Amino acid sequence: MQNLRQVFLHRIGLGCFYAPSVVFPFLAKRHRVLTRYQKCKLIWKVFRNARRAGSASSFLEQLTLVNAIISISASVEGVVAEFGSFKGMSAASLSLACKLVGRRLVCFDSYEGLPAPEEDVTHIEDGRAVPYAKGQLKGTLEEVNRNVTRFGDISVCEFVKGYFEDSLPKRHDERYCLIFEDADLPSSVATVICYTWTKLQDDCLFFSHEARDLEVVKLFYDDRFWNETFGCNAPGFVGAGLGLPLSLIGSCLGFVKKPSITAMPDRNNVITTHWV
Ligand SMILES: C[S@@+](CC[C@H](N)C(=O)[O-])C[C@H]1O[C@@H](n2cnc3c(N)ncnc32)[C@H](O)[C@@H]1O
Repeated sequence: MQNLRQVFLHRIGLGCFYAPSVVFPFLAKRHRVLTRYQKCKLIWKVFRNARRAGSASSFLEQLTLVNAIISISASVEGVVAEFGSFKGMSAASLSLACKLVGRRLVCFDSYEGLPAPEEDVTHIEDGRAVPYAKGQLKGTLEEVNRNVTRFGDISVCEFVKGYFEDSLPKRHDERYCLIFEDADLPSSVATVICYTWTKLQDDCLFFSHEARDLEVVKLFYDDRFWNETFGCNAPGFVGAGLGLPLSLIGSCLGFVKKPSITAMPDRNNVITTHWV
């Protein structure tokens, strides 16, 4: 019943109100190099990708990410990174945007599903426990490759296989202009933050698909964690609890904007602490 209600609200909200509120500004906005025809094609492909079986993110969530990629100034260096690909449907949409603006997309995943959960995950809105298990949400590298080839643009993609804690320490010189974290487990999200925050360019966005999950959102408000790791206070999180307002029931997507150097207290400590 709860699910039926959610599907109904989501569909009605998507069709009547929320889709135009995301799609029309996207079409109207002046994006460098992109014609309106290219944007319409992109919207259609993102719609198709998000509705395919195996997509764990919605059309408007993916379009929000695509819009953010296309809006990054050409003067900002760095790659777009996705943490958590599952079957590759969000990666397919992100790759299309990356191709249009000449960026690389790096997709990090175990391609073996989730690692063993280290703690419980609870939905903020209703206190419901979200059950996760090792190996859940598995998409193999072959499946992801196939889907991105068919529904995205594989020419801009790099796939990095392995658990984040093993793969990320090896990415020494990487810089990110946008991060999309969709790894579900708080321990995985913490690892992504630890290894990528200092490599995210100033004023760029760190998206998380865990906006409704208490233990993940808490990380973004945990001054102790941020001070010990980066020597600065926690940045907070836009969309904590119900996500960005992309449907009548919100969404799972939220973000943090990385403050510029001058706004980051004690940022010099970052360079000397554990993660770079
Ligand atoms: C919810 S799915 C991603 C959904 C996808 N972004 C989409 O929109 O269709 C979560 C993914 O995170 C990956 N994952 C979670 N924790 C991980 C970790 N510590 N290392 C590598 N991959 C991880 C899982 O393998 C899984 O593919």
